[in-house]
Amino acid sequence: MNAPQTPRQQLILGQVLHFLADPGEDDSANSYEYFPDGALWITDGRVAGIGRRTEVEANIAPAVRAAAEVFDYSGKLILPGLVDTHCHYPQSAIIASFSRQLLDWLNDYTFPAETAFADPAVAARTANWFLDRLLAHGTTTAAVFSTVHATSVDAFMAGAEKRRLRMLTGKIMMDRHAPPALCDTVAAAERDSLALIERWHGKGRLRYCVTPRFAPTSTPAQLTLAGELYHSRPDLHVQSHLAESLDEIAWVRSLFPAARDYLDVYDCHGLLGPRSIYGHCIHLSPAETARLAETGSAAAFCPTSNLFLGNGFFDHAAAIAAGIRVGLATDVGCGTSFSLIRTLNEAYKVSQAKHRPLPPLRAWFLATLGGAQALYLDEFIGNFALGKEADFIALDPRSTPELEFRLEKTDDLAQILFALMILGDERCVAATHVMGKPAFQRRTTAV
Ligand code: GUN
Ligand code: ZN
Repeated sequence: MNAPQTPRQQLILGQVLHFLADPGEDDSANSYEYFPDGALWITDGRVAGIGRRTEVEANIAPAVRAAAEVFDYSGKLILPGLVDTHCHYPQSAIIASFSRQLLDWLNDYTFPAETAFADPAVAARTANWFLDRLLAHGTTTAAVFSTVHATSVDAFMAGAEKRRLRMLTGKIMMDRHAPPALCDTVAAAERDSLALIERWHGKGRLRYCVTPRFAPTSTPAQLTLAGELYHSRPDLHVQSHLAESLDEIAWVRSLFPAARDYLDVYDCHGLLGPRSIYGHCIHLSPAETARLAETGSAAAFCPTSNLFLGNGFFDHAAAIAAGIRVGLATDVGCGTSFSLIRTLNEAYKVSQAKHRPLPPLRAWFLATLGGAQALYLDEFIGNFALGKEADFIALDPRSTPELEFRLEKTDDLAQILFALMILGDERCVAATHVMGKPAFQRRTTAV
């Protein structure tokens, strides 16, 4: 018999911040805990203590403390790992491609790029590259679109498993209005999805996400299958796109004339409910807004993508006020950055265009606990509640000369967080830890 292993213990020192609830439009002080001279105590990859450094250390036996691994991030903010609620790893190499409209973008760049993922070597190389870049940008969990090819899911899941990441992905289901090389059939989608669910769903920290690309590229029969798959096992997720552009909405209306609205297409096929998330949701009717909220479906706010394609301004404050779970998303490669910090900058500008500015505490809530709640993963991640998986980042709020100069005369948390989201980017991510272990350490500070 093997001797029981000694638990792996880690002490993390720094300015610890996490959210307990949505700070709302007034940045409620009851919604978060902040320990400027703080510490996290981690046992076997899970949070075992959080608070003021002196108090956390006082609770640890001296011999245990002496044997623990210590990471001193003094002067840096320790936040839960960032959560990207909608992105496409196979589009990594087409980010920043000039385009006019959503449907042109899909035809001109997305479909040709995704066709290459029939090759497992392309899928493996891109998946591993993408996962490493996520970590360098401080993102530890994401809801990710693969391609129609089962091997694209295998490559991504294998890469995420190797890095012990909590990740969601699924094979795109698409049986019409796409090049033949990218189309499956109802039967093939069922066979491949079931095999992938068997292989990956619930393996370690991985979950499978049923992924009909969007209403126009699936026949009603395939959407019916997607709904059946979603309900076929506990804890399966659903991701798709909704109401991103006006042309897309008109197309959906012509393809599904009996549906009350765009959302109704998904609703009629059993695709709304807990663990479902829809990218964009810009042009929603009051009925669609109410139905998303009532069913517990979530919206992924993709500001860089929406600005890039000129599709409009998502009203995050109205959506949250209506009771919709909202997460933040890069939407790489329509989105213009892998960084959720840069994404917050654009989210703020979009919120200003809607005359409901996104305040800094709510912003960082959306990038952490809010994203975890939108994905229904908050029992595992999103904050430092005791027992949660210890994915976290160390952010250096003075990592660039501009931030340093801006923050010279303040140690006010809201000001620091706001400056970080407007002036900051991936250069602020000094380190990323997954289940306590360092997964990324920035070598140099860029100037
Ligand atoms: N709608 C359907 N597919 C896509 C996609 O890949 N990107 C974006 N932005 N919108 C979509
Ligand atoms: Zn998308």
